[in-house]
Amino acid sequence: MWRSRVRGAGDQLSAHMEIPLAVDTVRKIVGDLPGGLTVLDVPCGIGRWWPELSKVAQKIVAVDISEGMLGYARECAKAFAGSVEVLQGDSEKLPFGDAEFDMIFSFALFKHLPRPVQYRVMAEFGRVTKRYVVVALGVMNHATYEFWRRRIAESFPMMPE
Ligand SMILES: C[S@@+](CC[C@H](N)C(=O)[O-])C[C@H]1O[C@@H](n2cnc3c(N)ncnc32)[C@H](O)[C@@H]1O
Repeated sequence: MWRSRVRGAGDQLSAHMEIPLAVDTVRKIVGDLPGGLTVLDVPCGIGRWWPELSKVAQKIVAVDISEGMLGYARECAKAFAGSVEVLQGDSEKLPFGDAEFDMIFSFALFKHLPRPVQYRVMAEFGRVTKRYVVVALGVMNHATYEFWRRRIAESFPMMPE
């Protein structure tokens, strides 16, 4: 029962994947990274990016606010032989220390958040991450691109200009 429900949810998400482009992009980004990373995946949803992230992660910590999603995620984590830890948490107030992770990965979160919350989450991502930031953002035009560029430079001081 669980398995078929998990598979059902995964199929739904994959179908909704505008996402061949997103998969190719994430694959390319991950392909350029070194291995052995500690990766924080927020929000993890049902964990659909773990097959890609696990190519470079020695450990994935996966956080989502929704217990419903986490039920599926915990089932899916079993396929990753202990290398994925699943926790409930809020991206605005992550239960981790400063610079605790090599990389943060965040897909399809920001578009759901109001602007002031986006700022706080971005700052929180910058706090817990020490090296790599992979965050999907909606960029409509040059103005929103510039806006995010500045915001990212403020939130992630470790990133090059
Ligand atoms: C569209 S799903 C994306 C999940 C996953 N990143 C993916 O690409 O499949 C959005 C997720 O954000 C989670 N979420 C919404 N607000 C959150 C918050 N403040 N903190 C953590 N997770 C949140 C929801 O529970 C949901 O699982």
